[in-house]
Amino acid sequence: MNLTYKIASIVSVLGLSLLLSLNINASASNDKIIERIQAVGQVCMEGDDSCGGAVAAVATGGPARTGEAVYTAKCGLCHAAGVSGAPKFGTADWADRGAKGIDALLATAISGIGAMPAKGLCNDCSDDELKGAIEHMVNSAP
Ligand code: HEC
Repeated sequence: MNLTYKIASIVSVLGLSLLLSLNINASASNDKIIERIQAVGQVCMEGDDSCGGAVAAVATGGPARTGEAVYTAKCGLCHAAGVSGAPKFGTADWADRGAKGIDALLATAISGIGAMPAKGLCNDCSDDELKGAIEHMVNSAP
């Protein structure tokens, strides 16, 4: 196979795939496009029956997660193994930290400290949930 032939076949394969992808895009029907560019939500005023009647109670983010659940989902990432000097779960590390008092620990957990990012990367955690997770870790100290 000579070089010219090789180049020609590469170009034709590229051209064919370009054509195919253009065709796929063009075949999406207008209905689909309209569906895709719809507003994400619609406002329904309380008491307005024309849009579904009674409005469901506004979600408040669900019930608070337990300290253990938050720890397992978010904090264990670093605190289970002691990544980057994080006080390790189930060790005396937490007895030392616990001496600071839960409020001081909560304050540094919210702001972040050293290699620990703010809120331990749990941006949707409430202060109470963070506090629960800290208590869970402090209580793990032998
Ligand atoms: C990306 C890793 C990482 C994650 C995730 C993480 N931490 Fe930390 N955490 C650290 C490190 C590192 C330290 C030690 C920082 C230092 O003392 O310099 C630390 C320290 C702490 C301390 C001690 C603060 C103090 O004042 O001594 C608390 C409390 C804490 N983390 C709570 C949490 C909670 C609660 C979560 C989960 C919501 C969490 N961490 C998630 C890395 C992490």
